[in-house]
Amino acid sequence: MSVGIDRLAAYVPAYVLPMDALAAARNVPLEKLTHGLGVREMAIPPPCEDVVTLAANAGARLLRAAEVDPGEIGLLLVATETAVDHAKPVGIFVHDLLGIGVHCRVFELKHACYAGTAALMTAVDWVRAGRGGRRRALVIAADVARYELGSPGEPTQGAGAVAMLVQHDPRALQVSEESGVWASNVYDFWRPLGRREALVDGKYSIECYLDALAGAFGAYRSRERPALEPDEALVDRLAYCLYHVPFPKMAAKAHRRLVELDWRAAGVRWREVEPRLDEAAAASYDAQVAPTIEAVARVGNTYTASLWLCLASLLERTGRPLGGRRLGLFSYGSGSCAEYFTGVVPGSVGAVADGGLARLLAARTTIDIDEYERCIGAADAGGEPPASFAGDFVFRGVRNDRREYGRVAAEAAA
Ligand code: HMG
Repeated sequence: MSVGIDRLAAYVPAYVLPMDALAAARNVPLEKLTHGLGVREMAIPPPCEDVVTLAANAGARLLRAAEVDPGEIGLLLVATETAVDHAKPVGIFVHDLLGIGVHCRVFELKHACYAGTAALMTAVDWVRAGRGGRRRALVIAADVARYELGSPGEPTQGAGAVAMLVQHDPRALQVSEESGVWASNVYDFWRPLGRREALVDGKYSIECYLDALAGAFGAYRSRERPALEPDEALVDRLAYCLYHVPFPKMAAKAHRRLVELDWRAAGVRWREVEPRLDEAAAASYDAQVAPTIEAVARVGNTYTASLWLCLASLLERTGRPLGGRRLGLFSYGSGSCAEYFTGVVPGSVGAVADGGLARLLAARTTIDIDEYERCIGAADAGGEPPASFAGDFVFRGVRNDRREYGRVAAEAAA
């Protein structure tokens, strides 16, 4: 039975900070950020945007593009590590803003960046089990990545959301029935209660990511169907390899590790490739990974949404020719849990490939370092939307310990 993502819609905040502004302000060589980390720009939410509006704006764009009545949604899952309350889930604000009916199961999922994949897999299982009848599942991954100003993590911040419609006979991605998972209790990245900025053991987090990749990929490789021949590499069956991308250079490190593991496990293939391993891995990266990370280099880390932003960007960039091709996907969440799986892009993808991401990226307002620091300081203030605002919903602020949201068109009309 074919189940997966019928359509995706991304949403990114209205402001963007170019890396040259950050490099100059922090007295860091620009090449360290643009080449060492691979980051070009960082998406910054203005005070009128928070994780709820990012998620709701992605959801509204998706429902509109897919012409889906909100009443058709029987399961709404919001994955985030940017919770706005210890008890009240981001999803219930989103449920209200999108006008989804009362007969809908709604909850929030957390496991650092892995939660977007956890939500997708939960929704896929819900559809496969027939729990919703003819109704569909809406999965939204949304986050605002924050580290201390001036810390090594600062250039890897970002913000954004990706909404996915999950159903039978999908047109964007049929999700494989097999997957490989790997979990381990590590302190690589965490955010204690009461802190807005994450704490991170940066170099260790890279090792944890790569160990989890090896664990999840190894588990998947042995479950691949039809089984691999003894000399066959899994990457040779894939058109593109997508990763969780906290910063673009991480995708290069991850792919280097993955192809080496894959090729080593394929006897004859390994003997062919070993003498020119670096060159072969670089060529594989250029062909199978580089086309998937363009949006991430312009948005930054979106935590739970990062892998899905890569998928949205690849579909939009490649469109119809992706039909019939197979993708490998790796999700990592600090702490940690990881999952490797594959998916086939159906031949009908051309009808759903344009998610409007390129238009959103082009329409953003470029801010300077003072405005960026003002936005960080005013993150809970709410405010008026800037002229470049492309969303439906705004965050108005917190009153009596309650968060307030509004619809832009309704406010303009009032
Ligand atoms: P850093 O201190 O900037 O590291 O921290 P660095 O000094 O090693 O420099 C980074 C790279 O720039 C290196 O390249 C340098 O050689 C290079 P590499 O050796 O790694 O290939 N470099 C230069 N290149 C050109 N010109 C120069 C120059 N100088 C240096 N002049 C770090 C980097 C990633 C650790 C930091 O940004 C950080 O802590 N980031 C946050 C944590 C993170 O993203 N970890 C990734 C894995 S964990 C994960 O993905 C989960 C996560 O998304 C959270 C979740 O699950 O929710 C984070």
